[in-house]
Amino acid sequence: MTVALLFFFAITRTNAQKTTIPVETEHVAVVLQTDKDHHLKIIHTGKTLAAKTEYELAASAYHLSGPGIGSNNNAFTAAGTDNNFVEPAIAVVHADGNNSLDLRYEKNTVTTTPDGATLTTVTLKDAVYPFYVDLFFKAWKKEDVIEQWSGIRHTEKGNVLLNKYASANLYFFGKDYYLTSYNGEWAKEMQPELTQLKQGMHTIESRLGTRENLIGSPNFMLAMDHPATETTGTVLLGQLAWNGNYSIQLETDAHKKMHLVAGINPYQSAYQLKPGTPFETPRFVYTLSFNGTGTGSRNLQSWLRDHQLLDGKGERFTLLNNWEATYFDFDQEKLAGLFKGAKDLGVDLFLLDDGWFGNKYPRNNDKAGLGDWQENKKKLPDGIPYLVEEAGKQGVKFGIWIEPEMVNPKSELYEKHLDWVLREEQRPEIYFRNQLVLDLTNPEVQDFVFGIVDNLFKKNPKLAFIKWDCNSPVFNGHSRYLEKNKIPQSHLWVEYTRGLEKVLQRIRAKYPKVPMMLCSGGGGRTDYGLLKYFTEFWLSDDTDPLERVFIQWNYSYYYPAITMCNHVTEWGKQPLKYRVDVASMGKLGFDIKANELKPEDMAFCKEAIKNYNGFKDIVWHGDLYRLKDPYETDIASLLFLNREQTKGIVFNYLTNWRYVGDPALDPVKFQGLDPNKQYRIKELNLYGGQKSTIDTKKTYSGDYLMNIGFNPNVSLRRSSVVLSIEAI
Ligand code: DGJ
Repeated sequence: MTVALLFFFAITRTNAQKTTIPVETEHVAVVLQTDKDHHLKIIHTGKTLAAKTEYELAASAYHLSGPGIGSNNNAFTAAGTDNNFVEPAIAVVHADGNNSLDLRYEKNTVTTTPDGATLTTVTLKDAVYPFYVDLFFKAWKKEDVIEQWSGIRHTEKGNVLLNKYASANLYFFGKDYYLTSYNGEWAKEMQPELTQLKQGMHTIESRLGTRENLIGSPNFMLAMDHPATETTGTVLLGQLAWNGNYSIQLETDAHKKMHLVAGINPYQSAYQLKPGTPFETPRFVYTLSFNGTGTGSRNLQSWLRDHQLLDGKGERFTLLNNWEATYFDFDQEKLAGLFKGAKDLGVDLFLLDDGWFGNKYPRNNDKAGLGDWQENKKKLPDGIPYLVEEAGKQGVKFGIWIEPEMVNPKSELYEKHLDWVLREEQRPEIYFRNQLVLDLTNPEVQDFVFGIVDNLFKKNPKLAFIKWDCNSPVFNGHSRYLEKNKIPQSHLWVEYTRGLEKVLQRIRAKYPKVPMMLCSGGGGRTDYGLLKYFTEFWLSDDTDPLERVFIQWNYSYYYPAITMCNHVTEWGKQPLKYRVDVASMGKLGFDIKANELKPEDMAFCKEAIKNYNGFKDIVWHGDLYRLKDPYETDIASLLFLNREQTKGIVFNYLTNWRYVGDPALDPVKFQGLDPNKQYRIKELNLYGGQKSTIDTKKTYSGDYLMNIGFNPNVSLRRSSVVLSIEAI
């Protein structure tokens, strides 16, 4: 990596005793400072100051001295010597068996990265041992986003055991803290929970290995002093970008300051670090907003789209998926019939889901065949090439589902390569959806997984899309490969994720642009780490449109709409229009028997897809403003606005059918518009002969729309209303 050296002396200030290191974006500053013993402290986490020299004084504004309080704000809290009372970010046993660590500041550098961020690297060294921690802060100025991680290395005479190795350690100087974290399970992903944190520890974590977002989420918000609203309050939004076990520890100390430690979960994961082989931890990605969650989430969305997500600035395909239309019950004739439906609808692509493979153990249900990636001869006698060809004849592209990290015990793969399977040999196997996880620490297994994708593309060069599923967490966490190579089993959790990333890097080196959907038995996998290799993700198997309003709402704090695969299915009681409108707030797809739609439904869908093609660029690449919160009112309202503030789409949904009030009582106040522009409002996606209640002749100033608002007239008869807004 080539890096240009930047104003090192201008930014870092050293006076007689102290070195002050501000890490800054446009509005956010995390300021580090050494004390007289060269311990590195966090002295400010908040707004940037105009006069940089004044950062130096921040520590003296608080009386942070004395046992405990004097060290709770360490920049990377070490177990073993510090006189602090809080959770360590790092805990080690040195080569000689000593388990103390006392990290002192050595040096820092500031560089500009080739992708335009500012990278601050601060090196700490143990006072006695040749043991080092590099703290990295990659600051994105415009987005107000910081990626923070650590690199751990040593030159001791043997291995050092890392019992804990966090990515980031932060400190907040607030009074009260309100945490929004997310609970979940299958079909109930991302259920928010607001907790006021009191003195002590609150941990957000996963120990599931592969499906890190299943029963919790690595996403969270931390509001300072008061709960944040969409437009008010100081709030941190963040995530550990790691597909695997994570742990985010929020410890309110005795002085109501907040000590945060985020990283790989140390659960069963002690790591033997060889001399001279640095261990790089995953990135903790966060933003701090001083104007509520709206700004915070737009920051993260822009960062993800512009700097992390694969092809974040690009296009996506609309599609028809056959999972809910057929489940495992299909053959090539039935599929060819569905291609016609895809063409009639006007989507770009047909996606063949689970059930197309396995011969000795045909994949006719979820009990068999996983691992045997050959076309099932009975269902598909002419193979995938025939389907790609037939879809092409109908003018639609073809995509395919795989679940390459997994195996059913009823499979030829299991019979041939038992040593490739994560399992405890001396104990009964434990299954999740009748399957086990392959051992991705093993390079042969990595080749096998890469080969599944590579073979599909070699045989079908026109294949246009992959859905990559992952239904099982790791229950039987034992690797034959690690055992044979005398590597501790406690490396499994880290090496699994690294193995998966190696495979994905190979796939992307050979197939850099093919869109791939990240799916995990619903929305079990959604982390920024994997989104480097994927173009989009599956949020949940729950496609009930009313539930989706809430699920998509919650994901939207952390992910731009371009990443969110939303499919219209038969789930839920809402009318087709409601379902299509909700699915249009992202990457639109269908999972229905399109060829059996009633003519008026087909006509509506075709029109809605045409409309979607007209506004999708705003949904994918514009800014999101959440206008009305369905947790607080009877409607949800969201505006996607282009960067020029000239075109927007407003989605409005009734979310409460109880006869308790009039959902249309209050107007919706818009946000983000140019107060001086005049806008015209039109209604889209009207079903059948439905007449709009919106007067398209009137125009309104941005000022009016943001301060008085506009009433979309949501009611029982108009449970879903899509408005286009355009500057004139
Ligand atoms: C779980 C996914 O979430 C579904 O969309 C579908 O692909 C099934 N797996 C197939 O087994």
